[in-house]
Amino acid sequence: MEIVEKIKKETDPIYQKISKVIPEIEWAFHAPLVHKINMLKKEKNAVILAHNYQTPEIFHGIADIAADSLALAIEAEKTDADIIVLCGVHFMAETAKLMNPNKKVLLPDMGAGCSLASSITGKDVKMLKEKYPGVPVVTYVNTSAEVKAESDICCTSANAIKVVESLGADKVIFLPDQYMAKYVQSKTKVQIISWVGTCIVHERFSAQEIEDIKKQNPEIVVLTHPECPPEVIAASDFTGSTSGMSKYVKTKQPKKVMLVTECSMSDNVQVDNPNVQFIKPCNLCPYMKTISLPKVLECLEKETNEILIPEIISRKARKAVERMVAIGRSH
Ligand code: 13P
Ligand code: SF4
Repeated sequence: MEIVEKIKKETDPIYQKISKVIPEIEWAFHAPLVHKINMLKKEKNAVILAHNYQTPEIFHGIADIAADSLALAIEAEKTDADIIVLCGVHFMAETAKLMNPNKKVLLPDMGAGCSLASSITGKDVKMLKEKYPGVPVVTYVNTSAEVKAESDICCTSANAIKVVESLGADKVIFLPDQYMAKYVQSKTKVQIISWVGTCIVHERFSAQEIEDIKKQNPEIVVLTHPECPPEVIAASDFTGSTSGMSKYVKTKQPKKVMLVTECSMSDNVQVDNPNVQFIKPCNLCPYMKTISLPKVLECLEKETNEILIPEIISRKARKAVERMVAIGRSH
């Protein structure tokens, strides 16, 4: 079979699924890359773990697992592939490496950072521990391994409240997202000491924007991520992790929905829920968007951009992530 025909045969079923969110002219560029990456994955016994904010050609075209950060950490631990390509941001790749240190973990673009992760250093955490002696430190996974190493336990947006309450303390230091800290505080009696970090994607939404859309679409259901400011969360109908939002749409099938989060999320969820109408005022995450098919192909071909964590840091950071995984997801 001619190569062009072979590519078409293998990628057409993928395109049929995502044709609503990717124009045909764009798919002509993606299809050969999707085909090559999927072949190479098999050859090299590699697995592609992708976050929910990845573009539809990555999420639906090449990912073996596409999910929120908690599920990606769990899947990284379970995999028996030799190579993990993490289509997401740097802290997600580091977390995968912590969960499965013997695997080769690759990040297609080493510039895929996160405003929350860069808002705090290990030194800052040490300073807080000196200021509040004996108070346990709960750290959001959106941080560097160095920060995790200074923490008692990690959490994600899927289990933050459960993790905080699991410690049995009356006070915890919760880092680094000030809005997530406020959200957790609104749900627990444990006193939360927070930091000043924010997500540059979620902090830009306003309650006014949501109210205006609700006025124009009275039947709309609004879902928010807990990284949003409190007044945005208050204006919404449900708050949860990226997979929490996705599950809400899948199980409740609202007529009309708005996901107050990163742009690709709505496209990816829309593909699996064709009967739901999506209103899409969204903000792009510039870090998530550094990952592209050509970069995935290059890093898998050359096995470049490997994540390496010094043993002295990884030993301590791993404990914090493993404690979180043992607690699991909130219901
Ligand atoms: P989730 O853990 O909900 O997938 O969120 C990760 C993230 O970076 C959100 O901005
Ligand atoms: Fe970080 Fe926000 Fe991007 Fe998530 S969306 S990776 S929290 S900057």
